[in-house]
Amino acid sequence: MSHSPPVKALTAKDIEARKGGTPIVCLTAYTTPVAQIVDAECDVVLVGDSVGMVLHGLASTVPVTMEMMIMHGQAVARGLSRALMVVDMPFGSYEESPAQAFRNATRILAETGAGAVKLEGGVHMAETIRFLVDRGVAVMAHIGLTPQSVGTLGGYKVQGRGEGAAKLRADAKAVADAGACSVVLEKLPAKLADQITAEISIPTIGIGASAGCDGQVLVVDDMLGLFDAFKPKFVKRYATLAETAREAIRSYAEEVRARSFPAEHHLFDDEAGGK
Ligand code: KIV
Repeated sequence: MSHSPPVKALTAKDIEARKGGTPIVCLTAYTTPVAQIVDAECDVVLVGDSVGMVLHGLASTVPVTMEMMIMHGQAVARGLSRALMVVDMPFGSYEESPAQAFRNATRILAETGAGAVKLEGGVHMAETIRFLVDRGVAVMAHIGLTPQSVGTLGGYKVQGRGEGAAKLRADAKAVADAGACSVVLEKLPAKLADQITAEISIPTIGIGASAGCDGQVLVVDDMLGLFDAFKPKFVKRYATLAETAREAIRSYAEEVRARSFPAEHHLFDDEAGGK
């Protein structure tokens, strides 16, 4: 089975060139049918490790595995024809050494056809990003609230307030200098996101950041109101699909109990040439 990206797909270089231009539209996707829907409007489709919480019911992204990311990456690839597909490197698959990161990043690219990988971390991951980029692996960085480090960050808190701002500015500069094609800024003060966007040469993609970023990303199930267990402040619900699904399933259950489904037109007769 081929996992080559479609011929007309956007590349990491195309996305990098969008710095300061038309905002980059990015959503997550984890399955083929959703990938087909988001591909029509998105420049970047992220197979985020949020898949662990959104589709697998995990409490955090920490237990997500390489196998999960590759399986969902393959499913999403089958639904894309235009967007750049970026696949998250799961926790524990890149932090040990640049060589470990290269081994796992190249496996993700080869087995899914992704155009780039994403990894979390700033200054402390810069050496690894440089190692990957020098060897042909396009990297999207992710700083600010980095959910894989929830254990050391002390929860899903806003990052970069007060003295933390200098650290985030240094993180952004380090990943840009290391050759990342873009950087996700998650959950930080809007003014700081604007300052970082002005200071670095690569596109910033905001989530809980600022409308002034070079692009925006949301978890697709959050913005569709499909994953409605909780709603972070930075999520805007563009639809209420979980509620729509609950109503549809309620109607189905009522009709099954009342024997009004299936109706006559859903049934087959015993004539070979009949309906
Ligand atoms: O895993 C994910 O979905 C992400 C985005 C929220 C940026 O990292």
